[in-house]
Amino acid sequence: MTTATCPLTPEDQIPPYVADDISEVLISSARIQKRVHELGAAISRDYAGKDLLMVGVLRGVLFFMADLLRAVTIPVSVDFMAISRYGPSERTRGVVRFVKDLEEPIEGRHVLFVEDIIDTGFTLGYILKNLRTRHPASLQVCVLLDKPRLRLIDLDIAYQGFEIPDRFVVGYGLDYRQRYRNLPFIAVLKPEVYAS
Ligand code: IMP
Ligand code: MG
Repeated sequence: MTTATCPLTPEDQIPPYVADDISEVLISSARIQKRVHELGAAISRDYAGKDLLMVGVLRGVLFFMADLLRAVTIPVSVDFMAISRYGPSERTRGVVRFVKDLEEPIEGRHVLFVEDIIDTGFTLGYILKNLRTRHPASLQVCVLLDKPRLRLIDLDIAYQGFEIPDRFVVGYGLDYRQRYRNLPFIAVLKPEVYAS
């Protein structure tokens, strides 16, 4: 999946201060918005008449959650948790620590877990296991970016934005060492940036 099917707009210009770090724009801002609205419509249809709570993990889900919430046309509430991973690697291989828990109980509620990206699935698998112990009425997953080729944990994904190849991406909330989150598109980071 590339930008080939959706033209780049001035918003997708790579700003000069990151030009050396980005190899290409993978998903344009217009294409993100279009897909987010499709997801919002599907969620609104599927959860009509239900007490929907959308739950996200800070910080990567920032823009996706903000846009998806506004694309949902039924009553919805939102809550966030924050986690930190052990080890220096961007990819976690196991346990995550809850740095901030949800503010609201989820028992008996229809929880839609919203995530920015799934790679091995370890992070999501760990969080879902924790949320299940709190007895929600239902628990489904909505993910913007999916790298299925790297999946090590079997996960049931109800809503998926884009399937992407195994490349490290940044922008639209996604970071490398806390940078690049503010780019309005999703871009491929040059390997030499994270290899150094
Ligand atoms: P998993 O546990 O291997 O599925 O890793 C998922 C987490 O790793 C995500 O929540 C991201 O924080 C991070 N991650 C994985 N791939 C990327 C990427 O391409 N760009 C930015 N962060 C990523
Ligand atoms: Mg994340």
